[in-house]
Amino acid sequence: MTALLTRETAQSIPADGPILSARAVVKRFGQTEALRGVDLDIEPGEVLAVMGPSGSGKSTLLHCLAGVLAPDDGSVVFDGIEISRLNERQRSLLRLNRLGFVFQFGQLLPDLTAVDNISVPLLLSGVRRNEALKRADDWLERLGLGDAGQKLPAELSGGQAQRVAVARALVTNPTVLFADEPTGSLDSLAAEQVMNALLDQVKAAGTTVVIITHDPRTAAYADREVIVRDGRIPAGNGVRSA
Ligand SMILES: Nc1ncnc2c1ncn2[C@@H]1O[C@H](COP(=O)(O)OP(=O)(O)OP(=O)(O)O)[C@@H](O)[C@H]1O
Ligand SMILES: [Mg+2]
Repeated sequence: MTALLTRETAQSIPADGPILSARAVVKRFGQTEALRGVDLDIEPGEVLAVMGPSGSGKSTLLHCLAGVLAPDDGSVVFDGIEISRLNERQRSLLRLNRLGFVFQFGQLLPDLTAVDNISVPLLLSGVRRNEALKRADDWLERLGLGDAGQKLPAELSGGQAQRVAVARALVTNPTVLFADEPTGSLDSLAAEQVMNALLDQVKAAGTTVVIITHDPRTAAYADREVIVRDGRIPAGNGVRSA
């Protein structure tokens, strides 16, 4: 099973059908039913925007799709793997090898430079330090951060910090990138730069993206939008108009 979680094996799995599939997913926190039976299929290479009111269950859904939280009921299948059957260690391997994450506030490690932050996931997956720094440097360039490599997170603008977070999420070439309000703390110009940089890279690599946003301008970058309401994605919502 462990082998299934690494990219080498994954490439041999035919990419027919959805890369990520949620069926009747239920998640409770005590008395709160955050997800009340969500069905969702996400196609390989698709950029999906998830919208909806505060408290509707968007972040909970993302965490269930990404194997961060285990659903109380229903199933989540990622690339042929039933995530809810994995144990904690297998799920963390899956996240490290196959998934990338960006949050509203980059959550960069404050004592590491930008380039060191980007290299962390590579070091964790066993890439040698010199090679990791070389690849991290390449990602700085790709995201237009050429001069910022030696800066600490506190010395970066909000938009630069989010681009570092995007680089860190993409440096391992994940199959799916999950982003929870990645531009939520930025002004509109910085948000646009982050989204353009992100989109350029994921489109080139064929990365699937699930992005939570409140901002219709950010959602406009997506191939498709779904709206979460009261822990559900109402039927018919998210059907492509084209
Ligand atoms: N760890 C938790 N413990 C208890 N309740 C939680 C927890 N996480 C989420 N909830 C509850 O689950 C519901 C859905 O929360 P969630 O964070 O998924 O909403 P959201 O759509 O992401 O909202 P926002 O737009 O404000 O980020 C809310 O009622 C929330 O209070
Ligand atoms: Mg949220």
